[in-house]
Amino acid sequence: MLDVKKIRKDFPMLDNKTMQGKPLVYLDNASTTFKPRSVIEAMNKYYLEMNANSHRGDYDLCYNMDMEVLATRKAIAKFINSDVNEVVFTSGDTEALNLVAYGYALKFLHKGDKILLSIEEHASNVLPWFRICELTGAEVIYVSLEKGRITLEGVKRAFNKDKNIKIVSLAHVGNVLGYEIPAKEIADVCHQNNAILVLDGAQSVPHMKTNFKELDADFLTFSAHKMCGPTGIGCLIGKYDLLQKMDTFHTGGGMNVTFKSSGEVIPLDAPSKFEAGTLNLSGIMGFKAAIEYLENIGLDNIHKHDQELFDYAISKLEGHDNILIYNKDARNGILSFNIKDVFAQDEATLLNSKGIAVRSGQHCAKMIDEVIGEPATVRMSTYLYTSKEDIDVFCENLINGGDILDAYFFN
Ligand code: ALA
Repeated sequence: MLDVKKIRKDFPMLDNKTMQGKPLVYLDNASTTFKPRSVIEAMNKYYLEMNANSHRGDYDLCYNMDMEVLATRKAIAKFINSDVNEVVFTSGDTEALNLVAYGYALKFLHKGDKILLSIEEHASNVLPWFRICELTGAEVIYVSLEKGRITLEGVKRAFNKDKNIKIVSLAHVGNVLGYEIPAKEIADVCHQNNAILVLDGAQSVPHMKTNFKELDADFLTFSAHKMCGPTGIGCLIGKYDLLQKMDTFHTGGGMNVTFKSSGEVIPLDAPSKFEAGTLNLSGIMGFKAAIEYLENIGLDNIHKHDQELFDYAISKLEGHDNILIYNKDARNGILSFNIKDVFAQDEATLLNSKGIAVRSGQHCAKMIDEVIGEPATVRMSTYLYTSKEDIDVFCENLINGGDILDAYFFN
């Protein structure tokens, strides 16, 4: 059981904040999370005490910064169980997925090759692949779903039907329905079929212990800002041999050994060859503080907390037939719903007027309507600082608010 009262004190955004004159109830953690003081202080420390570039100077400040960058890389590697040189800094999950698309897929895919996705993926895990298909002649295909879930059987069926699948790219936990996929088993099937698995960890890594080596995915991507860290920083974790084989995406300072007037460029080894330009150094310092913060609380405890809040919300909403929940059995801190006959955005606007922050619409997963059968949903999502009282306020307003909107709708 998390000591939520104590945890909340670490977050300035939870310090008596209001929205619409009401105490803030923040339930949009799948979009982004609040930062504890230690993360903000680590970022400030860069500007107040450490300000220097990394890998570019022979004076102490630069050396100290090099050590900070290395320390964060090591912290991420330990957090995720990868090797240190398998951690590539990116601006976030989206850039990491683009890096695999442009660095790996553009180099190795050809006309007739297939990329297997699901129609539940968010834009970051769809649009880079569409672009690669335009550039290579490869084709995106979609795994069949069972009641909104991606299953091992569905992936096996796709491979049985199509021998040309070279890349499978799936969210480890979906950002709308919150279902976890059997990633390890899917990785095995991919490897038996000479394909690679790209695991989008944007919604899983912040909420559950993730073991890169054990999962045996070829690539894993995530953002710091969904795990109490800063915006503008994230990672691509990649098996080292694949990173070495990949082309660079961005080129510039910091990624090359040398270049000549002839146009010859000799890149550094991975991960540096992907990190052109000055890194997001304050973000990197904040990222390490975020990992330390989460590790101190414990990822298993955080996951259990999300599950308990999910079960609690379901138990409170049960029996209210006008509340249509689309993922009752997901239990990963994401609950997607609609109020019968109420447009999702209207419900979210009503909740906003009560101080409650949720997301509505398609949540960047613009093909999800094909699964849910609705053009839009409301999504509430929890994290380690979400309290039972937050869920109480949310559920009460949902139950009562529905009636208000119903009345508005029919009058
Ligand atoms: N992918 C983020 C979300 O689900 C932005 O809200």
